[in-house]
Amino acid sequence: MNEFWRVKSFNYDSIVVMEEMCHMSLKGKDIISIRDLTRNEIEHIMEVAVTMEPLMKTGSKILGGKILACLFFEPSTRTRLSFESAMDRLGGSCIGISEPRTSSIEKGESLEDTIRVVENYADAIVLRHPSEEAIRLAAECASIPVINGGSGAEEHPTQTILDLYTMKREMGKIDGLNIALLGDLKYGRTVHSLACALAHYYVNLYLVSPEPLAMPRQIIKEISGRIHVIETCDIEEIIPKVNILYVTRIQKERFTNLNDYERVKGAYRLTLQAIINAKKDMIIMHPLPRIDEISPEIDDSPHARYFKEVWYGVAARMALLSLIFGTIE
Ligand code: NCD
Repeated sequence: MNEFWRVKSFNYDSIVVMEEMCHMSLKGKDIISIRDLTRNEIEHIMEVAVTMEPLMKTGSKILGGKILACLFFEPSTRTRLSFESAMDRLGGSCIGISEPRTSSIEKGESLEDTIRVVENYADAIVLRHPSEEAIRLAAECASIPVINGGSGAEEHPTQTILDLYTMKREMGKIDGLNIALLGDLKYGRTVHSLACALAHYYVNLYLVSPEPLAMPRQIIKEISGRIHVIETCDIEEIIPKVNILYVTRIQKERFTNLNDYERVKGAYRLTLQAIINAKKDMIIMHPLPRIDEISPEIDDSPHARYFKEVWYGVAARMALLSLIFGTIE
């Protein structure tokens, strides 16, 4: 039972909330945008993830017989392997396409037709695609759940679940923290989803980027009525203030004009010297891959959590899959 239940047990609102929670089931649910999940649902996934951590060592058969199709139409290392590892550790299995050129898409097959075929082979689909629109369309025509594994420069909801889970496990809480998102906030899909999810929490959110890579205005508009948002280009100023520094790479592949990329390339780089004034327990996260924005000398510092984040990601995805398959309520 989480804190939410204990605090709100005796008034009318809580009855409504408790009813909502009783009906809260992720079974069969599509996860296209992080906006598809309430704070309660995110919290619930994180509670289940804690119970998945021991299973990462022992293994389990709770998803025995279940098949996940991983359809990746953009490059991936972590997201695809992490979903595969999560299925494998729970006794399920994966099929997939990671190289569209070897699939019938290359012959001109539509995404809808591909989905109508694949739904016969699997019980859920993780789809990475350049457009969120396409992922929504896939979800509409699929009779099985579709999970967004990253949609172009738009969203990456399952990365957000593991980012929040890392925050919660490492800091013990998310409410009350000062969190900075540093880097390419314009094209980075992980920071778009993360900013929206953090609006469910009581946080101060620092958005730190070179000016041309600022967070899209519609996201700022969406979240700023709910949390305190501070935009800045000054990394040095925010370093001593934050509990969590979430760094991202510049998304070179999203630039339509390479000259624009050259202008911002290397605009920020964390070194041990740059974080000398950080709080002792400040943690640095990164969805990876890292290019040059975090110097490798930080890897062994007590602040680095980006590789631990990969580990938490498997537990978080084990939880999400168990809930979507309905093996856990
Ligand atoms: C991110 C992605 O694909 O959006 N990586 C990931 O899924 N862990 C981040 C990135 O590519 O920069």
